[in-house]
Amino acid sequence: MNKINSVPLLDLKAQYQTIKQEVEPAIIEVMKSQYFILGPKVKEFEDNIAEYCQVKYAVGVSSGTDALIIALMAADIQADDEVITTTYSFFATAGSISRLNAKPVFIDIDPETYNIDPVEIEKAITNKTKAIIPVHLYGQTADMEPILEIAKRYNLRVIEDAAQAIGSEYRDGKRAGSLGDMGCFSFFPSKNLGGFGDGGIVTTNDEKLYQKLIYLRNHGAHPKYYHKMIGGNFRLDAIQAVVLDIKLKYLDGWTGGRQSNAEYYKKGFLERGLNKAVKTPTVIEKYRHIYNQFILRVQNRDALLSYLKEHNIGSEIYYPVTFNNQECFAYLGYKKGDFPHAEKAADETISIPIYPELTSGQKDYVMNTIQEFYKQKK
Ligand SMILES: Cc1ncc(COP(=O)(O)O)c(C=O)c1O
Repeated sequence: MNKINSVPLLDLKAQYQTIKQEVEPAIIEVMKSQYFILGPKVKEFEDNIAEYCQVKYAVGVSSGTDALIIALMAADIQADDEVITTTYSFFATAGSISRLNAKPVFIDIDPETYNIDPVEIEKAITNKTKAIIPVHLYGQTADMEPILEIAKRYNLRVIEDAAQAIGSEYRDGKRAGSLGDMGCFSFFPSKNLGGFGDGGIVTTNDEKLYQKLIYLRNHGAHPKYYHKMIGGNFRLDAIQAVVLDIKLKYLDGWTGGRQSNAEYYKKGFLERGLNKAVKTPTVIEKYRHIYNQFILRVQNRDALLSYLKEHNIGSEIYYPVTFNNQECFAYLGYKKGDFPHAEKAADETISIPIYPELTSGQKDYVMNTIQEFYKQKK
């Protein structure tokens, strides 16, 4: 057997081999139909996603970022309105708020889960606050019950940033995207359900919001060429819809693969005596973590990252800079140190390969390399 000496962070080619036979003819069908934008294939996919996410409606859009933007537009977020969110996420979460000229208001995280700390939310509410965007970071939902309770008391919209969390469950099997007023998903290729390009979807149980989202994604037109509102081009392509619809059938199997990889790592780090140097993710009881990323909180983070790269192991920092420390948000007046838990996480965490096709040999190579690193450090 060949000795393993490299593991990529993600190997989409391995996944493609398993679905190629189904996906290629489906794409050819779309090409033959020449029906490329929205249409029946997109609607079919939307219905399947709505069912998967336990909601009444789903609106396919052009990306996860656009899902957030259109959800904020549907929630009627105006210039100078305040929208509360975590300081620790992918840029789009905060960027979409600013793109509507609204003001992002940042909150620190729970250091165990890396998700927004609900206790801090109420302190940040003002008479300008209109919405909360909790992010289900890395594939585990935020603690939604207290967030929904606060939102109800202050009459705020809740928009879930579920970009990394398709199929993730809060307590009682409740799925990401079904908990707030709207859920925003990304089909960026690295997500558990990834397209062959950009794509996203907004989920909702509210018929009025659904209607608005349908108009907004097509310039606000209703009927065609008549505009009561200003929307944009946020439409999903039929090619993405057919690819994603095929992949959706395999999603739970792939997520199961990620979950068993996570268990393998947790056991493996413990057996190697690395539980002090390396902290694996905390999964809250009764939640379903879908492990879009497997995040380690580690000692000597930057040196370890270099060591992994030298040994051809894919690893990334998600995310090295919290929003309050981003140059583009300097105008908001935050300073370094305002959100200690998030800033510490940004300094101490890395992701390691978790994709479902990983072999035991590859996972052992990752853990043995990390073990070697800490042996040398002693
Ligand atoms: C938490 C989060 N929000 C939003 C997005 C934006 O999604 P997209 O890249 O599809 O625009 C992403 C994905 O990259 C994300 O991880």
